[in-house]
Parts: sequence; C-alpha cells; structure tokens
Amino acid sequence: MSFSFIQITDHHLRESETLLTRGYSTAHAFRAVLRHIAQNWADRIDFIVSTGDLVDGGTDAEYQHVRQMLGITAASHAPGPQRVTIEGLREMPMCFLPGNHDSRAVFYRNMFSSDEPRDFMNVAFTHKDVQFVCLDWGGENKAIVYPEMLAQLSRARESNAPTIIWMHHAITPIGIPRIDSFLPNDLGAFQKAIRNKNILGIFHGHFHATYESRIEGVPVFGLRSTTFSFAPDGDTVLLVLRPPHYRVVHVKDGKLSTEIVEVLL
Ligand SMILES: [Fe+2]
Repeated sequence: MSFSFIQITDHHLRESETLLTRGYSTAHAFRAVLRHIAQNWADRIDFIVSTGDLVDGGTDAEYQHVRQMLGITAASHAPGPQRVTIEGLREMPMCFLPGNHDSRAVFYRNMFSSDEPRDFMNVAFTHKDVQFVCLDWGGENKAIVYPEMLAQLSRARESNAPTIIWMHHAITPIGIPRIDSFLPNDLGAFQKAIRNKNILGIFHGHFHATYESRIEGVPVFGLRSTTFSFAPDGDTVLLVLRPPHYRVVHVKDGKLSTEIVEVLL
C-alpha cells in the first residue's frame, strides 16, 4: 500500500474568471496551483482533494462556472472523484468537500447530483486499503460537533484500516484570537471518537494557514488557501496575500509523510 495525493483548499472562486475579489483573481491563483501540480506531480499522485470553500457566495452560477473551468461533465456521488481537465491535468481524479462558504444544498445539486442533497457531507471511501473519512462541521464559520459527524466516525470505527480524515474546519488553535473563536466549543466527543484508532492524519482548511498540531496523538495539518490568508493585527484580523500552498501527502507502508509546495503567482 503506497500512494500519494495532493490537498488544496479554500479557493473562493467567483462566477466568472474576470471577477476580482478586492483586486485579487482567485481564478488565476487556482489555475496557477493546478498548473504547478500538473507540471510536477500529475503522474505521481492518485488524486487531488479540495477541502472546501470551493466558491465564495455559494450560488449555482459559481458552481456551474467551476465545473466548466475544471472540465467536469459527469454526475457523481460525494465526495467524487470527479475527473478534472485543466491546466495540463488530464482526467485527474478530484474529490471535493464543502466549506462554510458552500451552501450544502447548492453544493450537492451542482457537484454531486447523483446524491440527494444533504445538510451535511459525512461520507467515506476506501483507497488502496486506506479508509478516507470526510467530516462535516457545518456551514457556519464556527465548527460545531453535530451528531451526524459523530455517527460517521462511529461507522468508521468498524473498520480496522488505517484512516485519513478530511474536513474543512480547523480544530486546533492558530494563535489569532478572532480566528480561534471559530474552533468548536467542546472537542470531547470528537476526541473520544478518534481515540486509540489507527488514524494517520487529519487534513483541513478554513484558517487559510499552513500549520501542524496534534490531537489525541494524531497529526493535524492545516493548509494555506489559494486566496487571502489572515494575519493578526491587534484584536482584529488583517487580510494578507501570501503565495498559495498545496500539500503533497505520501502514504507508504502504513506511515504518512507530507510536504508543502509554495506556488509563486
Ligand atoms: Fe475559506
């Protein structure tokens, strides 16, 4: 069992490539990241995952535009993979998780029309003997421990396979009080649900920042967005531009390692 995949996150794409967000082209950054992946990793990874905030406003028009950009024509079940063809990627399998900017009903009907729209996207699949679990902490800025998510974790515990968790929301502090206020109030039930399981790592977005921490001994990996990131400015939060990151994840002989790649725009 040996393979690699790439995580990207928080693209905040608009309904047209010519639309700028505060003067910044989220579409240009998204394309640059995918082009970099195509040129450097396409033949060495099994798939790409986006951990949410695919679009900014959560409208049908935005998703339709994203599908067009990515050359997605087929219907699919959540979380994919969909086949994407863009910037040198050819039919690359890609999974999608919703973030707090992705209204679940609109996200489902545009991205995963093979499924009935759901309020939460808690799903799992197995790839090369590794169980992948997608957890949904809800559609708000603040992460909430919903029963549906705990039920998904409980189903996942039935398998002894090494497990990787993908989700949008962050669960460990980054040190910026305003941003850390989005952490869940009580992680007790979540911690109990992952305790003593063979979880190789937890991968998330939301805080738009690359950082690492641990919870219950499990490594937790945050990732910088392809759009703005946040910097502390006293009690407020400053929007700042930094080069986007993507994370390459290698799974080999039941062990996990990752590397960060920075893409200059
Ligand atoms: Fe975001």
